[in-house]
Amino acid sequence: PRPGWTVGADVVVVGSGVAGLTAALRCAAAGRRTVIVTKARLDAGSTRWAQGGIAAALGEGDTPEQHLVDTLVAGADLCDETAVRTLVTEGPGAVRRLMGVGARFDTSPETGEIELTREGGHHRRRIAHAGGDATGAEISRALVAAVRDAGIETVENALVLDLLKDAEGRAAGVTLHVMGEGRHDGVGAVHAPAVVLATGGMGQVFSATTNPAVSTGDGVALALRAGAEVSDLEFVQFHPTVLYLGPGSEGQQPLVSEAVRGEGAHLVDADGTRFMLGQHELAELAPRDIVAKAITRRMRERGADHMYLDARHFGARMWEERFPTILAACRSHGIDPVTEPVPVAPAAHYASGGVRTDLAGRTTVPGLYACGEVACTGVHGANRLASNSLLEGLVFAERIAERIARTPVRTAVPAVPAGERTVPPLPPEARYAIQRTMTAGAGVLRSAGSLARAAEELEALSPGTSSGTSPGAPGKPAEPGVESWETANLHLVARVLVAAALRRTETRGCHWREDHPDRDDASWRRHSVIALRPTDE
Ligand code: SIN
Repeated sequence: PRPGWTVGADVVVVGSGVAGLTAALRCAAAGRRTVIVTKARLDAGSTRWAQGGIAAALGEGDTPEQHLVDTLVAGADLCDETAVRTLVTEGPGAVRRLMGVGARFDTSPETGEIELTREGGHHRRRIAHAGGDATGAEISRALVAAVRDAGIETVENALVLDLLKDAEGRAAGVTLHVMGEGRHDGVGAVHAPAVVLATGGMGQVFSATTNPAVSTGDGVALALRAGAEVSDLEFVQFHPTVLYLGPGSEGQQPLVSEAVRGEGAHLVDADGTRFMLGQHELAELAPRDIVAKAITRRMRERGADHMYLDARHFGARMWEERFPTILAACRSHGIDPVTEPVPVAPAAHYASGGVRTDLAGRTTVPGLYACGEVACTGVHGANRLASNSLLEGLVFAERIAERIARTPVRTAVPAVPAGERTVPPLPPEARYAIQRTMTAGAGVLRSAGSLARAAEELEALSPGTSSGTSPGAPGKPAEPGVESWETANLHLVARVLVAAALRRTETRGCHWREDHPDRDDASWRRHSVIALRPTDE
């Protein structure tokens, strides 16, 4: 498609979660003309679904050093220590600045201090929360209000298609497909010499995920097509306790926060046995990969499709005050956590890998930055520590804005007119085949066989094959449109994820290989890095 409209800016921020909105606010405050483009409404991304909270060494006696140690341990020796040190030392200040923007965290009625909870892998209470279990919604509310107050130009309902580059190969903007946004309708482009990807995750690549429908890996796919390096895509974190809604439940599933375990809930099997005891010193609060694996093992042993989270001992008042969102979600599905154990199973939750960046958020394409879940800064290693994601979004968005503020303003001149090189669409129906393939072959437990099958099935869905073209018209490309472009993005990130998972012949963090059950430090204590040549697409 050829662009019907063009907007010029100093910075275009793609995405509107904690990372995107923070980057935009900071760039605008530094006097940079900033445009935010986002696929749905400003508050529709993953941030608003975050429950447990935001981790930072804010409590008495806690230190960034202790936060660093817990993060490194959870990351299974694959974190970049300098990146983690940056996160944990800049984290407390970044959270206070977020409060300055208007975010209100829960405080203790006695002391007035921020109330902190625990989650998996943390050796102390370190997680600030809001509205009990609605932390992301509060952060999103505060940032959206601040962006509106600052008058930052936003284009909503805008699916990003491709990166534009100038004659030197530097980022020069993005092309977009916008649906029904008045003067910015149809295919258009924002020209800007700084492009900040903050598009969030790719949970929709699996059948069941905690991620909203918008999490289709658009940023990683764009970066791959632009020739940027991506790293550690095989490390998909499966959240251990997602409300189990029955066989075949697909799409976004309700999360039951780690904080419920942080406040003392027990994981039990159908007989009521606490199976995490004796598996790890932290029992139910072991790092997330360990709990997800233990649940999966128990499910296999028992031939069950879920386990249970038992927090009846909280009583009605605590459930209502501390976990109102989760209580309402369970009750809306006919489960009452006050009187019965909650059925739970692991589901895809977070991409620990993503577009590779340095500490200033720079990717390997000049002028292209990434922050938040779409990025791989190195802080998560092989398994993200609970509640480090909102923090990472904040800290690295601020760092990107600082870098952009120090870079002289230029005018972006795309070398190739937007629309010359576009995403090859895939029929929207192929999305379900991709999700089922990924869940079966590249889910919690993987092997060379399961991954090779997944690779084959994905190959058969490629554009130009009969399954990768319009149904009823083999060989004819799918109609361009948001769903078909999203499906193409899911397909591309799925293929790269499977390739990375096949290559890593060890078990580490959330990458669990049945055929290589041990960690192999001699060969694999390193990040996986993949970049596509233009012909690989
Ligand atoms: C949760 O509340 O369990 C999610 C926290 C996270 O993903 O870090």
